[in-house]
Amino acid sequence: MRIAMIGTGYVGLVSGICFSDFGHDVICVDKDASKIGRLNAGEVPIYEPGLDALMAKNVAAGRLSFTTDLAAAVDGAEAVFIAVGTPTRRGDGHADLTYVMAAAEEIAQALTGYTVVVTKSTVPVGTNRQVKQAIAKTNPQAEFDVASNPEFLREGAAIEDFMKPDRVVVGVQNARAAEVMAEIYRPLYLRDFPILTTDLESAEMIKYAANAFLATKITFINEVAGLCERVGADVKEVARGIGLDGRIGNKFLHAGPGYGGSCFPKDTAALARIGQDHAFPMRITETVIRVNDEVKSRMVEKIRDALDGSFNGKTIAVLGVTFKPNTDDMREAPSLTIVPTLIGGGARVRVVDPQGQAEGEALLPGVKWMDDPYQAARKADLVVLLTEWNEFRALDLKQMARKMETPRMVDLRNIYSEKAARKAGFECYIGVGR
Ligand SMILES: NC(=O)c1ccc[n+]([C@@H]2O[C@H](COP(=O)([O-])OP(=O)(O)OC[C@H]3O[C@@H](n4cnc5c(N)ncnc54)[C@H](O)[C@@H]3O)[C@@H](O)[C@H]2O)c1
Repeated sequence: MRIAMIGTGYVGLVSGICFSDFGHDVICVDKDASKIGRLNAGEVPIYEPGLDALMAKNVAAGRLSFTTDLAAAVDGAEAVFIAVGTPTRRGDGHADLTYVMAAAEEIAQALTGYTVVVTKSTVPVGTNRQVKQAIAKTNPQAEFDVASNPEFLREGAAIEDFMKPDRVVVGVQNARAAEVMAEIYRPLYLRDFPILTTDLESAEMIKYAANAFLATKITFINEVAGLCERVGADVKEVARGIGLDGRIGNKFLHAGPGYGGSCFPKDTAALARIGQDHAFPMRITETVIRVNDEVKSRMVEKIRDALDGSFNGKTIAVLGVTFKPNTDDMREAPSLTIVPTLIGGGARVRVVDPQGQAEGEALLPGVKWMDDPYQAARKADLVVLLTEWNEFRALDLKQMARKMETPRMVDLRNIYSEKAARKAGFECYIGVGR
């Protein structure tokens, strides 16, 4: 198969590289010339474990290339994937479809022969029909179908998720498009991963429903954590106790500083908006959004408590600022709410993050970036564990406590325990929900 992938962000690049690894010929397109320049120089512009080696392998095999020339990539492709961003539209919470529709129109002008135009971006119900209309209007001669193929990969484990998905969802309007999609994903059929073929609207809805459900699960345990603190229960035990129930499952039950990232915040906002537009308010999702915001504020209060009520003049070492480990993605990371509040309150903030500096420098002005957690803790008043990178999971707490001005820790990921921290010499340890 010949595939054009429009947009080489976290989703487009991973999808393009993985499709080429399936054996397809893939041309990845981006309008960001510097990104394409880096890709053509063999450099992966994002941090995603294993992606550089997989990319090099498939470029060397002649199956994968990168260009800014959308028309050349689309010419002769059997499937064109739209994997551009759908951020929250300023002001109203809607998914901003500007990039998707602009890509659709560009694609329309370049179509030659029968092509399936596949939307991989997360888009509101009805968008695939809009894409179809826009293409037909721009190029009435075009022979094409549309398909919805939402993506479920997680940053940090993206290759594994793409190659071994829980399911692939494909929304189509006819058998011809379904056949092209089946051909693209055939390697997964052979490995027995379920492929769910639906209508366009259901496929679009599945993606939002999945993300809203996961955001709800996280927010539920975060709310339970707050109550645990009041009643003297330990949310880790509670999560384990409920997660062992097969109907509940143990994933996404880790209490923490609230969900963030490139998907949950914008997708929950968009779903709430879709509900309002259809006079069917999504009350659970709307509440989840509100509670999640409150969770982040509660984390700031924990940090304030650990510093006897004031940030002013305090030195704080923050470990981890990306929205989760194994990514350099800072979009909607809880750190972007928490760290500026500390600085605004007069604290000196040192930050250590294995991959976050390049993205984070512009977003977190006024912090001091450091490489070593122990150096960051030197003479500090507090260590805040914010993102659970592996590098922070087995710290020598004794060594850390010895270096600090006042050995205190706020552990927003519950990696350590009060007992272990106190034994190592910490005079104060505050976790979440314990
Ligand atoms: N990031 C994730 O973990 C994830 C997971 C599942 C689904 N999604 C969805 O996938 C979509 C893409 O997300 P992302 O995180 O990869 O976005 P991103 O912002 O990282 O990348 C989008 C890329 O598209 C490029 N682009 C925009 N318009 C273009 C055009 N007309 N032609 C060529 N290139 C163009 C941009 O330059 C950018 O490089 C979103 O809808 C998102 O909701 C993301």
